[in-house]
Amino acid sequence: MSILDNELKKRRTFAIISHPDAGKTTVTEKLLYLGGAINTAGTVKARKSARHATSDWMEIERQRGISVTSSVMQFDYKDHIINLLDTPGHEDFSEDTYRTLSAVDSALMIIDAARGVEDRTIKLLEVCRLRKTPVVTFINKLDRYGRAPLELLDEIESVLNIACAPVTWPIGSGQHFEGLYDFNKKAALPYAKDENQSDWIDLRDLYADPRFEKGRSDLIDEVELLEGAGNLFKTTDFLSGAVTPVFFGSALRTFGLREMLDTFINIAPRPLVRPTTTEPVEPSESSFSAFVFKVQANMDPKHRDRIAFLRICSGEYTDGMQCHNVRLKRKMKLGGAIQFMAQSREATGNAFPGDIIGIHNHGTIQIGDTFTEGDNFMFSGIPSFAPELFRRVRSLDPLRNKALLKGLKQLCEEGAAQVFNFKNRGDLVVGAIGMLQFEVVAWRLQHEYSVECVFEAVPIKVARWLESSEPSEIEKLEKHSPLNIAVDGAGKLVYLAPSAANLQVTIDRCPNVTFRATREMLGQQP
Ligand code: G4P
Repeated sequence: MSILDNELKKRRTFAIISHPDAGKTTVTEKLLYLGGAINTAGTVKARKSARHATSDWMEIERQRGISVTSSVMQFDYKDHIINLLDTPGHEDFSEDTYRTLSAVDSALMIIDAARGVEDRTIKLLEVCRLRKTPVVTFINKLDRYGRAPLELLDEIESVLNIACAPVTWPIGSGQHFEGLYDFNKKAALPYAKDENQSDWIDLRDLYADPRFEKGRSDLIDEVELLEGAGNLFKTTDFLSGAVTPVFFGSALRTFGLREMLDTFINIAPRPLVRPTTTEPVEPSESSFSAFVFKVQANMDPKHRDRIAFLRICSGEYTDGMQCHNVRLKRKMKLGGAIQFMAQSREATGNAFPGDIIGIHNHGTIQIGDTFTEGDNFMFSGIPSFAPELFRRVRSLDPLRNKALLKGLKQLCEEGAAQVFNFKNRGDLVVGAIGMLQFEVVAWRLQHEYSVECVFEAVPIKVARWLESSEPSEIEKLEKHSPLNIAVDGAGKLVYLAPSAANLQVTIDRCPNVTFRATREMLGQQP
C-alpha cells in the first residue's frame, strides 16, 4: 500500500451539527478527551462561566478570539487521524457553517433527548442531505429526563426525512437511566459515572442484574420490536446518506460517546471524491489539489494578515511547494502551513487529503479558490447564499470613504457579510443573513480600519444573482430597472428587489434570465 493510501485509510473529516445548547461543545471536548488531546478537567466549566458573564455580542468576540485555534481540531484515536471542524453556534453565521460543511466527508448530528429535533438542526440537515453527506446521530443528555426513544426516532424520520438505524439503545433516562444496549454486541453497559468502565452484560443475564431493574422489560420489548422491524444498521445505506446510525448517551458524563466514536472510525467515510468543474478528483491521485472554504482575519489588528483554511482533496502537501491558483491563473508558493490541534496551532511540513491546513496571506487567497499542481479545474459546491437583510452603509467621516470601501471589500472576501454596489445610485449596501453580522461588520470596520459607520434602512427585501446565456437579456433588464441592479463583491450582477412581488413580476417579465438564490463561489476573477 502506498504512503498516500495508508494516510487516506486513517483519516476521518467531519463536522458536528446541532441546535444551540444540544451539547456540541461538550461533545467536542469529550471527543478530544477520548482522543487524549485534552485533559477535560475544568474546561467545560471555565467555558460555561465565561459564557454566562457575557452578552451575545461579547460571545462573538469570544468566539472570534478562540476560533482560529479551535475552528479545526485534529486528534488521533485508535490509529485514526480525526479532523473535527467546528461550526459557529449562532444561526446568524450560518453561511460559514454551510461552507464548512462543504469541506467535510461526514457529519455528527447531536439531538437533545428532551427537546428532540429543533429548527437549526432541520436547516443543517437539509444541507447535508443536498450534499448526500453521511450523518451519524448522537441523542444526548440521557442523564436527564428525556422523551421516549422510539418517539425521538419517529420525529427524526418524519421531520428530517432520514431513516434511523439504532446502534445503541437507552435503558431509561434521567433518574432512571440505567445504561445502554448495543445491538451489535447484544449486551448492555450499565450507566456509571466512571467513564473508563466497560462492564458489558449479556442480554440473557440482564434479569439477574439489579442495575437494570426498572428498564429491562421495556428494553427487551423494544429490542424485539426494532430487530423484528429489520431496520438495524447497514453501512451502505449510511454512506449514501439515506440512513443515519443512532447512538444514545450523555456527553456530560462521557457515557455512550466512546461507543459512538469506536463505530464512527469504522463506518465513517475516508476522504471522498470531490466534484469539480471538470472531472471529479479522487483523493488517491498523486497530484496535489485543495480548496479554500474559510478565510479568517488574524487576531492581531496590527498585522493585517489572514489565514486561509484549505481542505486537501488529493496528493500530498509539502512545505514550500509550488501550486497553481486557478482563479488567479498564476503560480504561488504554499509554505509555512499550520495545522490546528485541540489547543494549539503547529507548523506542518506535510499533510494529506482530508486534512485542513492554514496558510497565512495578505488577502491574495479567497474563499472558493482552488490550488492544483497545474490543472485548471476548480472545486465546486462552495455556496454563497442570497442575504436576507439589507442596510445602506455610510462612513460618518466622509474622508474615510476609501477605508470603508477597502474594509468592506476585505470583510466580504472573508465571507463576514456581502456588499453590493449600485451601478446607478452610488450607494453601498451590506447584505447579511442575520443581524449580528452587521454588528460584527461595524465593530471590525471601527477596530481594524478606523471607520465609524452607520447602517440605514433601505427598501430591499430580496437579492438574486442574474444569469443568462444571452447577455442582451440582462442588458434589457438593466435598462428597464436601473435602480435595482447592483454588483456584488465578486463583480457579479445582482437584482435587488423591494418586495417578493416585485421580484416575481420581474422574473415573469424576463423568462430568459435566471434569478439565482445561491451562487457558487467559483471562478471569481480578480
Ligand atoms: P452547544 O455547544 O451545543 O451550545 O451546547 P453545550 O455543549 O454548551 O451544552 C449546553 C448545556 O447543556 C451546557 O449547560 C452543558 O453542560 C449541558 N449539557 C451538555 N451535554 C449534557 C449532557 O449529556 N447531560 C446534561 N445533563 N447536560 C449536558 P449550561 O448551558 O452551562 O447550563 P447548566 O445546565 O450547566 O447550568
